[in-house]
Amino acid sequence: MNPPILLLPPDPSQIPAFRDAVLAVAPELELIPWSRELDAATLARVQVLLGWRLPPGLAPQLPALRWVCSIAAGVEKLLPPDLPPQIPMSRVVDPDQALGIAQHVALMVLRHARQLPLYDEQQRQHSWQRHPKAAARHRCAVLGFGEVGQTVAATLSALGFPVEGWRRSSGPLLPLLARSEVVINALPLTPETSGLLNAQAFAALPRGAYLINVARGGHVIEADLIAAVRSGQLAGAALDVQQTEPLPADDPLWDVPGILITPHIAAQSSLDTVARQFVAGLQCLEQGRPLPNAVDRARGY
Ligand SMILES: NC(=O)c1ccc[n+]([C@@H]2O[C@H](COP(=O)([O-])OP(=O)(O)OC[C@H]3O[C@@H](n4cnc5c(N)ncnc54)[C@H](OP(=O)(O)O)[C@@H]3O)[C@@H](O)[C@H]2O)c1
Repeated sequence: MNPPILLLPPDPSQIPAFRDAVLAVAPELELIPWSRELDAATLARVQVLLGWRLPPGLAPQLPALRWVCSIAAGVEKLLPPDLPPQIPMSRVVDPDQALGIAQHVALMVLRHARQLPLYDEQQRQHSWQRHPKAAARHRCAVLGFGEVGQTVAATLSALGFPVEGWRRSSGPLLPLLARSEVVINALPLTPETSGLLNAQAFAALPRGAYLINVARGGHVIEADLIAAVRSGQLAGAALDVQQTEPLPADDPLWDVPGILITPHIAAQSSLDTVARQFVAGLQCLEQGRPLPNAVDRARGY
């Protein structure tokens, strides 16, 4: 069996690299690079989608679709309402990606806890002033305790920070926030988690708490965050993800003192890992075995 595979990476410029990576593992596969110019007959042959999003209206043009494989950890862009519910979905889980995110989070927690912005500012002013601190032991809450959250928690624990994870079975969020000085968001974006980090959540935190978002911009009500930081309720935030990406040059988030913006770079999947896991999943599909890293489409992650 050689099911036609539609290749739909985040950016069309990435198609050659993804194609080469998959063909290096399985040269016999038929890959169809996504383009708006693909004709109806070609789309009608597609049985598998390897990508990170489904443009609106595309799913109904893929009547032979049997499997959606996400190249990203977050699958919310692959779940449009017009994707038939019976089509199975799975995702690539790259341990190196979780490690990369954990490194990024550790950097942000330490930057905040060890007052790096203060020393950056002092250096700009040629000011040699000491503000020595004992080892930082900020209480950290990790929201989302899956592949990413657990790696983040282990890394922060190893650095001496007390960490509590939050998942479905953990109980209500606000009491956890009330006892947390740093909040790290590693949740999937679903109808339940969208907008979870809002004015009520920020008010529940102790004054001077810090937010690190490495999940999705849609988790945060950005106007509420800006108000919380400007009022001093939050000391600041490190946002690797934003509601609108790329973040427009005139977005107010850029200019809030205490908010650090990075352009969705906390982690990158290895193409080789994507290709190997995809081909292994394809073999499972063809042999009728359970798909690895299956997504629960009803839950949205
Ligand atoms: N910035 C980046 O570069 C980057 C890179 C990769 C991933 N990400 C983001 O990180 C997210 C998490 O990835 P992952 O691989 O760790 O996902 P995962 O393994 O599926 O884990 C998701 C976790 O979130 C919890 N959760 C989901 N809905 C919840 C709810 N309503 N209430 C409480 N907990 C809930 C789950 O709880 P249970 O354990 O109870 O099921 C699970 O612990 C992705 O969806 C993506 O948005 C960002």
